Amino acid sequence: MSDSSAGDRIRIFDTTLRDGEQAPGCSMILPEKLRVAKALADLNVDIIEAGFPAASPGDFESVKAIADADFGPVICGLARCNPADIEKVHAAVKGAAKHRIHVFVATSEIHREYKLRMAKEEIIKSAVSAVTMARELCDDVEFSPEDASRTELPYLAEVVSAAIEAGASTVNIPDTVGYTVPAEFDELFRYLKAHVAGIDAIILSVHCHDDLGMAVANSLAAVQAGARQIECTINGIGERAGNCSLEEIVMAIKTRAEFFKLETAIDTTRLYPTSRLVSNITGMHVPRNKAIVGENAFAHEAGIHQHGMLQHSLTYEIMRPADVGLSRSNLVLGKHSGRHAFRDRVRELGFDLDDFETNRAFDEFKKLADRKKDVYDGDIEAIIMHVDSASAGPWSMKKLEVQTRSDQPATATVVLVGEDDAEIEVSAEGDGPIAAAFQCLERATGVALTLKNFELHSASIGQDAQGEVTVTVEHDGDSFRGRGTSVDIVEAGSRACLEVINQILRRRQRTGSDPDSTARFSRATI
Ligand code: KIV
Ligand code: ZN
Repeated sequence: MSDSSAGDRIRIFDTTLRDGEQAPGCSMILPEKLRVAKALADLNVDIIEAGFPAASPGDFESVKAIADADFGPVICGLARCNPADIEKVHAAVKGAAKHRIHVFVATSEIHREYKLRMAKEEIIKSAVSAVTMARELCDDVEFSPEDASRTELPYLAEVVSAAIEAGASTVNIPDTVGYTVPAEFDELFRYLKAHVAGIDAIILSVHCHDDLGMAVANSLAAVQAGARQIECTINGIGERAGNCSLEEIVMAIKTRAEFFKLETAIDTTRLYPTSRLVSNITGMHVPRNKAIVGENAFAHEAGIHQHGMLQHSLTYEIMRPADVGLSRSNLVLGKHSGRHAFRDRVRELGFDLDDFETNRAFDEFKKLADRKKDVYDGDIEAIIMHVDSASAGPWSMKKLEVQTRSDQPATATVVLVGEDDAEIEVSAEGDGPIAAAFQCLERATGVALTLKNFELHSASIGQDAQGEVTVTVEHDGDSFRGRGTSVDIVEAGSRACLEVINQILRRRQRTGSDPDSTARFSRATI
């Protein structure tokens, strides 16, 4: 039904918001998901898998919001092979001009026997009725036999044939547990090509996990054997060791175009900013040596390499940094830099801020430039990532004072300003300065937190580099993540903690679960 699987165009199916978001520590709230979806559209991915609507009401709402925003790509939602899941996906994605229902069922022996307790025939029946129902709702239906790489080949061919006959326009072959190797996966795809009637009329897709570090290599093997859609995530985030990394596979296809003779529609100059966005939002730090988007990916330290690079950059560089959106300019901003220079730099870094956001970010930049002589790209990125939440309230931090001595508990004093501009001052002791500051924030706001994770990274270089802190906390059984940035790491940690507290209080206000919420944000009630 759809265009032929022959041809040299590879569709990029991004599942950062579904398989990626599902990974521990990667959950995102709705405004963050919308921001990522917009960035994926700017990157020009073909399909965005926006979530698994049946997983929770929150998942449904976010898939629906992304579909309704209709940024351009096909919006897809995942469903198990049952009518309720399929209806939910359809209700969530139908707001997008181009939408897709993706149904899956496990097919390997181990999943059949221990997870599903279903016979082979029952699974085929369930796949066929799910695809048939999805096709009644939507022309664009994808089917995935979960754990395909560990499924007996003749049975896999039978399932795939049945799904195509029922109307699937894309069939995706997942290596769910990251078990296959390139030569074996190549054989699997060639087997399906040879044994499934109608396979050349649909798009064959590949979905690899990285448990043995071969997700990209296995996806490339599948592509060479005929797959024309690749499922992947930004920075390779995903269950366990993650999924095939979008930036790696796209740059492999582009850099070795003379070998693969294939292309994607991705605007590769958006890769670096999108990677930074996802890393900042999820708090999943990108290792320095990560291919394509790691800080060291284009750094040449060894003298012999630098010498070669000076003669001709291709001696040691197979891609240009600019191709992935990494600017090589050494331009450093400082307190004399004006709004124009700042705005230009923000654009070069790949951010698209409106006037209001630019002004807020510029104010933060000026404050930072007063405290720090040189402001680097990392500092600017940190400001931009923070500017959204920094003024979201209800509480803002006016003052933080800490005292530490190696032989005594630390003490902290915090002054917070509430929505009615009234101030509250609280002092507390703790094992260290962060613990003392957190105590102050909890007492001042009445929100008790259980700290689950505290991560500190340097946003740029030098001794006066800003610290970027990401905290993950639990409150009332839910997990919240907050970020804070400052040249003072205790202040950065406190800002991250206050961001979480504000999120909790805003949620209470929204859901009406805190009858005292308005009063609570003013001094009068504390
Ligand atoms: O890994 C997997 O098998 C999946 C499917 C649902 C496509 O994510
Ligand atoms: Zn997966």
